[in-house]
Formats: sequence, C-alpha cells, structure tokens
Amino acid sequence: MSSSETTARSPSRSAAADPPLHSERDDAADARKPLPHTQETGVMTTAPPSPPQAAMRLREIVFGAAGAAAVRAAARLGLADALGDEPLTVEELAASLGTPVQPLRRLLRALSCHGLFAAREDGRYVHTDMSRLLRDDAPDSLRSISLWCTEPWTWHAWPQLDVAVRSGQNVFTDLYGKEFFDYLHTDAAESAQVFNQAMTRSSMQSARDLAELLDLTGVSTVADIGGGQGHVLVRLLEKHPMLHGTLLDLPSVVANADARLRGDGPLADRSS
Ligand SMILES: C[S@@+](CC[C@H](N)C(=O)[O-])C[C@H]1O[C@@H](n2cnc3c(N)ncnc32)[C@H](O)[C@@H]1O
Repeated sequence: MSSSETTARSPSRSAAADPPLHSERDDAADARKPLPHTQETGVMTTAPPSPPQAAMRLREIVFGAAGAAAVRAAARLGLADALGDEPLTVEELAASLGTPVQPLRRLLRALSCHGLFAAREDGRYVHTDMSRLLRDDAPDSLRSISLWCTEPWTWHAWPQLDVAVRSGQNVFTDLYGKEFFDYLHTDAAESAQVFNQAMTRSSMQSARDLAELLDLTGVSTVADIGGGQGHVLVRLLEKHPMLHGTLLDLPSVVANADARLRGDGPLADRSS
C-alpha cells in the first residue's frame, strides 16, 4: 500500500468510535478524494484534528493537575474564607490575603474557568456553589478533602501509575521506603494532620447518611474496620440503642476516638 493510501484511510479508522460512524464505502470515497497538501512536504501525512469535543475533553483531563493545583492553592491561601457574601475586587482580596494582585488575579481566572468563584461585569468576584465548599466554615466543607487529595506525596505517586499497573505492586513503598500509613505518621506530620481533618470532616458527613440509610434490623453488633475516630460508629450506636460496636484502627488514631465512645462517655459501655 502506498503512503498516500495510508494517509487517506487512517483518519476514518481512528474516528471509527465516534459518531457519525464512517462506513467502508465512505473510506473508499475518501481514498478517491484529492489529498490535502502542505507547503513543506506536498502531502499532509498527519490525521486531521479529532472532533473538537473529544479533543477538548482529553486536553482537560491531561491538564487536570493544573485545576487540582489551583484548588489546592485557594484552599491553602484561604481564598474562599476571605470572600464573604459581598463581592470583592481582586485588590481587596489580595490585601486581605497578603498576596500580590496579579498572581491572585490569574489564580482567580483559572479557578473561575472551573466554576469556582465568578467575576462580575465590574470585575468584582463572588462565590459560586463550588467555591463556597472551600470555606472552612461551610456545613459540608470540602476544604480539608481538597488539601488531602493534593498533598505533596500525591504528586510523586501519580506519575508512577503505569509502573503500578505493569507490576501490580504498591509503588508507594518504592518511593518512600515504607508503607503509606507508617510514612504518614512518622515522616509527614503536617500531612497526617490534614488527613485526620479530612477523614473527620468526611466521615461526619457520611456518618449522617449511613445512619439514615443502613438497615440494621436484627443486627446486634457492628465493627468499623479502619473506622478512624469512630464518627460512623457513634451515629449508629446513637440511632440503635440496643446495638454494640467495635472500633478498629491504629492505636494512635483510636487514642483520639470520639469522647462518647471512651471513659465515661454515654456510648462507652456499648463499644470496644
Ligand atoms: C481512608 S481512612 C478511613 C477512615 C474512616 N473510615 C472514617 O470514615 O473516618 C483509612 C483508615 O484505616 C486506618 N488504618 C490504616 N492501617 C491500618 C491498620 N493496619 N489497622 C487498622 N486500621 C488501619 C487508618 O488509620 C485510617 O483511619
């Protein structure tokens, strides 16, 4: 097969998964069309661009780290907490956070592309539903989870995903020389604190839903394995007065378990 035939047929092959479907008849018709020309080579040897939506979506995915980094920066700077119900200029926000104006403006523009914060016509910024979730005082705040999911070690581990898929092994130990939770509790005190806050926040949120939705009819004992500080267990024991519960987690975590489960706490006699 000549190179010109290859050029004419391969685009329709690569686009075969996307509607509208390209038939063999179309392929044959394509092969008879004159080939596009470039000035340098005479014949264009690359496939035409893929459909714009697919290309844009793929670009968004591979550029995703930038979005995650922007959210992390906002969470660490306290940007969402600095903006209340009143619209503020970038200058006002920068003064409140102690940052230069221009980099903060760029950060806000990047975030607003993702639906966090919105610029009004007068240039002032307001919250969106999503940016409100980054406030520390939001009832369903995702600030600590946003920090946890973007902690420094995550940026080292993700690029090793292909290695993990190839080997089927945990790459974390190769990177840090120890198991994840050993590393967290011995070498990454700040990250461990972020983890505790993130788990506490999210388990308080999920404990509420779990207690409401879980049917424990006929159940006398539950165990929460890796149950953190026991927020799920507390909710379940509070809802079901006959229930007994066991919390299993690392000693340092259990030592700080919810006070209701320990000592003179109201649920202590029903938990271990
Ligand atoms: C993703 S967190 C889940 C937290 C908890 N379910 C909650 O909702 O807050 C995983 C938990 O497993 C615990 N863990 C890790 N290694 C453990 C081990 N060897 N034995 C018991 N718990 C462990 C961690 O301390 C952590 O609390």
